[in-house]
Amino acid sequence: MKPKRIAILTGGGDCPGLNAVIRAVAKKAMGEGCEVVGIEDGYEGLVKNKVRKLENHDVSGIIALGGTVLGTSNIANPYHYAIESKSCKVTFKDYHRSAVNNFKKLKADALVAIGGDGTLSIANRLYDDGIPVVGVPKTIDNDILGTDITFGFDTAVWVATEGIDRIHTTAQSHHRAMIIEVMGRAAGWIALHSGVAGGGDIILIPEIPYDINVVVKKIKERHSKGKRFSIIVVSEGAKPKGGDVVVNRVVKQSFESDRLGGISFVLGGQIEKLACGIETRAVIMGHLQRGGSPTPFDRVLATQLGTKAMDLVNEGAFGHMVAVRNNEFTKVTLRDVAKGKRLVPKDHPLVESARSVGTCFGDR
Ligand code: F6P
Repeated sequence: MKPKRIAILTGGGDCPGLNAVIRAVAKKAMGEGCEVVGIEDGYEGLVKNKVRKLENHDVSGIIALGGTVLGTSNIANPYHYAIESKSCKVTFKDYHRSAVNNFKKLKADALVAIGGDGTLSIANRLYDDGIPVVGVPKTIDNDILGTDITFGFDTAVWVATEGIDRIHTTAQSHHRAMIIEVMGRAAGWIALHSGVAGGGDIILIPEIPYDINVVVKKIKERHSKGKRFSIIVVSEGAKPKGGDVVVNRVVKQSFESDRLGGISFVLGGQIEKLACGIETRAVIMGHLQRGGSPTPFDRVLATQLGTKAMDLVNEGAFGHMVAVRNNEFTKVTLRDVAKGKRLVPKDHPLVESARSVGTCFGDR
């Protein structure tokens, strides 16, 4: 049975390429005679019934646009919905029945949920509770299980690499150690790729805990060989051997409440102390990596993921996420996606290549 109406939502942190996916899903659906409804602000819109019909002009001209025209929320979870009192006290309530009922009222044949691990885990639960869901993997972190790549990652790596390139020249002029902190949460993909692309001397990722003495030794070695500057690319989730991550803030309402950030400043202080005489500066790339226009690669990937998601809707393959495995589009169950995160294997070929060109990972 051909779907007559579908709904789309974008959940979790925003990410370059979201609009390209919305456009692809909606244009393909509309071209097949199917109506499209946009749910605003992720699952918040499903709980509060914030919906609007999308017309062709709503999704036209948005492929290059950053953010999401539907809005998003990385705290709204229908099963654990945060309510904040006037005195800022947060309590939680289960609103999933309202979400399911609101979806039923839409008379839609499918929900396309575009999001990261949090959004897709919730999509899996909503599927079990009766919503015909298809997922699309989104995140700059590239850490979604079941797919080799997510849209948004390429743009984040591009922005981070641009940042490293700019830091390189000033590090060289001032003979400094410069630390560039990139996002990625518990996964080191952004640091690994941008660190290699930007020629980082030291790359620190969560999957390979570092020893500060090894980091300092590498910087000193470079100095003694006449390289009086060093570039250290650190993932926000990196941690010392036997130590823990640096938490910048706790967002109680959120799926993953700890917001990481600040490891670069901790490292900077330690390096200045242990490698005395070597001035150190730290830069946090932060949300620059998430904002703005997607790269051509991400626009193409997002378009393909969007149209493939609509294929899954047409097939009735609900409870699945569209995925890329070995350069081919395929589908995986949301149940499998919800099992965890895709982290960097310690012996990943790119880690090995980086080590072969002298990059230090702080472990040996
Ligand atoms: O998951 C995407 C991401 O940008 C992470 O890399 C980062 O840790 C987190 O979201 C930041 O979240 P927020 O936008 O809530 O600060």
